[in-house]
Amino acid sequence: MTEITLHSPLDMHIHFRQDDMLKVVAPLSANHFAGGVIMPNLLPPVDNLDRLLWYTEEVRQACQPHAFDPYMTLFFRNYTFAELEAAKPHIIGIKLYPAGATTNSDGGVQEIMAMSAVFEAMQELDIPLLVHGETHGFVMDREAEFCEVYRALATKFPRLRITMEHITTEKAVGLLDEFENLRATVTPHHLILTLDDVAGGLLQPHLFCKPIAKRPEDREALLQAALRAHPKLMMGSDSAPHPRDKKECPGCAAGIFTAPILLPMLAELFERHGALANLQTFVSDTAQRLYRVTPPAKSVTLAKTTMTIPAQYGGVVPMWAGRELAWSVTSVQ
Ligand code: NCD
Ligand code: ZN
Repeated sequence: MTEITLHSPLDMHIHFRQDDMLKVVAPLSANHFAGGVIMPNLLPPVDNLDRLLWYTEEVRQACQPHAFDPYMTLFFRNYTFAELEAAKPHIIGIKLYPAGATTNSDGGVQEIMAMSAVFEAMQELDIPLLVHGETHGFVMDREAEFCEVYRALATKFPRLRITMEHITTEKAVGLLDEFENLRATVTPHHLILTLDDVAGGLLQPHLFCKPIAKRPEDREALLQAALRAHPKLMMGSDSAPHPRDKKECPGCAAGIFTAPILLPMLAELFERHGALANLQTFVSDTAQRLYRVTPPAKSVTLAKTTMTIPAQYGGVVPMWAGRELAWSVTSVQ
């Protein structure tokens, strides 16, 4: 196959930021995708209705004139039932960050299982819980250790729909088949990279993210699940732009910027493994079913025509800047 048309692709985990950065990055997603889950880790976080409505409007404006549904999220805190009820029509879910786990998460949760009242209320109101699943343990073990928290949540709140965000381990893939109410997003970069690509040779700041890329056997488990379009696994890029000077410095910020190259990168990967026929399910159908959303109609055609990844987009360096990809987007309708 030398051409593929994807219908209403969705990116179920994106960082759009705010102000000038928002204006640079939002159109790049809104052009290729029909919708996406917008993360709330701004400074300060999006954790009340006023700020949510303000941010939704900012995002909508930045996505003009593309047909793109922003699925908004709130930053998890100790919300009351009434607050959750009022927010529900405006959000797709609530994103929980363990305190300090990643970029702009200092206001996250200290003791997750102490938040039962909020989880109860979310379960009652059928508001999905989206989780950054890492403990504060050794960096390579953080997600595996967090699997115990996923088990506890999934068992204690069996009707709460829980998304394990950006999974990176074989162990997390295994949980999908164990608990009915667990689903996951996975990033294209975690289907491709291991820790060796990040730090095995010269240090690659533009490949540094949280959770850090893991072992070859983890990547293999993620890749096999994605290639066969596992019914509970959705594409969520975790595209996380930072200005170049925050990446190329001592104390490099975590986050990989992939928004403009996602679909070509995935087409190349799925074609190489003979799985192009499953790409539609992975980049849209599964998310539509699990989140019960109907995005605007958008047909994105990719062809086997090379593209060179630009060195930067408005001061943000994308993953693999300067490299060639075998596929590119040829039309969006
Ligand atoms: C994200 C960011 O920069 O906001 N960084 C990252 O490394 N993925 C936050 C996150 O999703 O962890
Ligand atoms: Zn993220």
